[in-house]
Amino acid sequence: MLLTVEKLTKKFNGKPVIQDYNFTLNKGEIVTLIGKSGTGKTTLMRLINHLENADAGNIRIGDTVLCEMKQNGIIEYASKKKIYKYHNQIGMVFQNYQLFPNLTVLENCIEAPLAQKIDTKQNLIKKAKELLNQVGLNEKITAMPSELSGGQQQRVAIARALMLNPTILCFDEPTSALDRESTIEIGKMIQEIAADGTGILIVTHDNEFAKDIGTRVVCSDEFLDNH
Ligand SMILES: Nc1ncnc2c1ncn2[C@@H]1O[C@H](COP(=O)(O)OP(=O)(O)OP(=O)(O)O)[C@@H](O)[C@H]1O
Ligand SMILES: [Mg+2]
Repeated sequence: MLLTVEKLTKKFNGKPVIQDYNFTLNKGEIVTLIGKSGTGKTTLMRLINHLENADAGNIRIGDTVLCEMKQNGIIEYASKKKIYKYHNQIGMVFQNYQLFPNLTVLENCIEAPLAQKIDTKQNLIKKAKELLNQVGLNEKITAMPSELSGGQQQRVAIARALMLNPTILCFDEPTSALDRESTIEIGKMIQEIAADGTGILIVTHDNEFAKDIGTRVVCSDEFLDNH
């Protein structure tokens, strides 16, 4: 089991959005998460990526714990060092891509791993070029994000997330700004990433895309009704 979520609870202003929710993600699996607006899909993804803290429950990748319940019934987050290890295994591609507007496509890819001193600049550039080639953007490495189409920006965001070798990759609405053709293209790319063993979680409003690409479809109706 790659990702394990047990009895997860998150409240906003005292009101649960997610309660006692259990979820797992396996190696190479593509889970698509569908459901009505405001039912907590983005919240679940933010909790898994530690962009938000849970009120209760356990979250771990393999045996790397992010948070767990103690015997006194209080949730405890891991130490900074362990959370760093957890973060290294998970990546998120945001709906609006969140590319750095003042950096080229190549610079966007190497910025974070360079700051984290993951490898030498030379090696990171080599890796970024390989990944950009893989997503079909080898002719755009010196372009600025504003010079790219939505689908191309999405592909840069995917290449950038892959720079950190995540074992789990999350996507929030990856195709909402794309036409059918680009959606199919991104879908194929995601399937290739999963074929390499990466576990994928995708939030989407596009039910057709969810069924086409997902090896399992999960609905956010279950977030408050999983007992
Ligand atoms: N930081 C926050 N403070 C207060 N309430 C929040 C916060 N973030 C989310 N919520 C509330 O939690 C609920 C779930 O929000 P979330 O963004 O997870 O929904 P979603 O399923 O992703 O919706 P959509 O499909 O529209 O993107 C909503 O009612 C929202 O108002
Ligand atoms: Mg959302």
